[in-house]
Amino acid sequence: MEPLMHENRVFHPPEDFVKGAAIPGMEAYNKLCAEAEKDYEGFWGRLAKENIYWKKPFTKVLDESKPPFYKWFEDGLTNASYNCLDVNIQKGNGAKKAIIFEADDGTVTEATYQDLLDRVCKMANALRKMGIKSGDRVIIYMSMSIEGIVAMQACARIGATHSVVFGGFSAKSLQERIVDVGAVAVITADEQLRGGKALPLKVIVDEALALGECEKVKNVIVYKRTGGNIPMTAGRDSWMHDVVANESTSCEPEWVSAEHPLFVLYTSGSTGKPKGVQHSTGGYLLWAILTMKWTFDIKPSDIFWCTADIGWVTGHSYITYGPLAVGCTEIVFEGVPTYPNAGRFWDMIAKHQATIFYTAPTAIRSLIKAASGDESIHPKNYDLSSLRLLGSVGEPINPEAWMWYYEHVGGSRCPIADTFWQTETGGHMISPMPGATPMIPGSCTLPLPGIMAAIVDEAGHDVPNGSGGILVVKRPWPSMIRTIWNDADRFVKSYFPEELGGTLYLAGDGAIRNKDTGYFTITGRIDDVLNVSGHRMGTMEIESCLVANPLVAEAAVVGRPDDMTGEAICAFVVLKGGRPTGDEAKKIATELRNWVGKEIGPIAKPKDVRFGDNLPKTRSGKIMRRLLRVIAKGEEVTQDTSTLENPAILDQLKQSL
Ligand code: WT7
Repeated sequence: MEPLMHENRVFHPPEDFVKGAAIPGMEAYNKLCAEAEKDYEGFWGRLAKENIYWKKPFTKVLDESKPPFYKWFEDGLTNASYNCLDVNIQKGNGAKKAIIFEADDGTVTEATYQDLLDRVCKMANALRKMGIKSGDRVIIYMSMSIEGIVAMQACARIGATHSVVFGGFSAKSLQERIVDVGAVAVITADEQLRGGKALPLKVIVDEALALGECEKVKNVIVYKRTGGNIPMTAGRDSWMHDVVANESTSCEPEWVSAEHPLFVLYTSGSTGKPKGVQHSTGGYLLWAILTMKWTFDIKPSDIFWCTADIGWVTGHSYITYGPLAVGCTEIVFEGVPTYPNAGRFWDMIAKHQATIFYTAPTAIRSLIKAASGDESIHPKNYDLSSLRLLGSVGEPINPEAWMWYYEHVGGSRCPIADTFWQTETGGHMISPMPGATPMIPGSCTLPLPGIMAAIVDEAGHDVPNGSGGILVVKRPWPSMIRTIWNDADRFVKSYFPEELGGTLYLAGDGAIRNKDTGYFTITGRIDDVLNVSGHRMGTMEIESCLVANPLVAEAAVVGRPDDMTGEAICAFVVLKGGRPTGDEAKKIATELRNWVGKEIGPIAKPKDVRFGDNLPKTRSGKIMRRLLRVIAKGEEVTQDTSTLENPAILDQLKQSL
């Protein structure tokens, strides 16, 4: 935090960028903000009319009669897939490249808007033939592929609500999501390829379905990616290429209410159970489009590359929906940034002439490190002159990483959009507008027009600039979360807590606004949620997983700062059989890590595991997490430990393996 507060380097958008920008200069930005302030519904209504094709126009913009269950454009009928594909083809862009797909091994495949529409229609017809209809839920458990995008768009076309599960989640995590969302079908691939290795997908689906309570799943559709040997269950499983083979390339879209759930995406919260974040069709799509225009200043000639996975919200908004809805050409990448070497991103930018590049600070930091060890994969060895804009997402970008990204990737000519947002917000909330906002490394700067972000204290009162507090949004916005699937109560309690008055949207992050500029800096989560390499993990989820292991009596999980991954997971564990030492401790730590990998997924594996005879608790039996955070950081315990029931165990927990 310290260096950030004193950061005073300012970078202005280059003049020729401002000239052609969607929001050319601060005056234009302020004008949009003023329009929203003056007539909130008028502002959003105008934009929704201008940017979306409505089969039947909406007559009411915002329904606030049952807060916080807000409804946007509710009586308007539309379809997300129609807006992404048919609309572009009608504009004469059928032969335009929609997707440039680069596989793990470097093989490139392309799809035009017309190709994509044909494939989406075939798939949509195949889904309909299986009896899947509007309102049904479909789980998608796939790697990065054109087929994955086709699967999502095909669901949208027939009004089926998709729920994509990241391919790095375990069978158990997958099963929990299948059950919670009540899926009738699963779309998957035989295997996925990452960094030259084939990893299982279909066998994990089989395992998940065998865990029980998945009787509703009548169909498993498998995209043949590697041709690896996988079992197929007769009557349930079919190959994607078989089911689409005889289908027509036209498919009448299901015209749905703007409020129809387009997707449910699970994310971690502060309890052990992930939340199914439910998004709408109309409001969500509107914001995907507007943020492509405003934050990414998208132009028809752009070659846009977002390196996220479709398993996360970034992949939904900035791979599957946003880029296609605005009719640009996008790059989709199957592999990892370090294979065959850590120059892969730079090589691909040069090869495909990417103009906009959007990635995570974690990736940037690991590539900085790689380039410092191997000059040959430094970005200076690649022709990155096609780039005109950079973006960052998922976690705070530290000023050093920002500067490196700016100078070495962007050649000191590309603005950087440090985009703050969340699974729940559907799209960007706070970010520089690249043709307007002067940038300060480490600050996501100002809210997008129409987003009423603010910082309040614990009672919900505004705090003055310069004092930190809780980040909230004061007015509903079109792409906000509608509810938590199956748990409306938890939705209200998590995001509109009574302590804040019940009307403010609670993001779950702390933030501070600069005294002079009013710029926002995100100071990190204020709940028990960690951000590891831009992946969101609930500490409670990992704790309940650890205590489910037969060896474990008790566990507490906290985060500690990590140079590379932002935060690292640190687990403090009490075993039933007493505190292990030496090689035995190392062995059990590995066992527990693998256990978490198997139960939740590899992304949840704790980096540190430490054993104690007990955990530090107050006399009333509460685990002192704040103390554990200090120990995890390796700092000296200076706080008062007099209420601690068993101070001696602190020394045990300080010892790393
Ligand atoms: C959390 C949301 C945003 C889509 C991918 C992650 C953190 C996100 C930033 C940023 C500082 C950021 C916040 C937020 N976060 N972007 N630019 N600067 N922090 O979505 O998994 O829902 O995580 O990521 O803590 O609450 P998510």
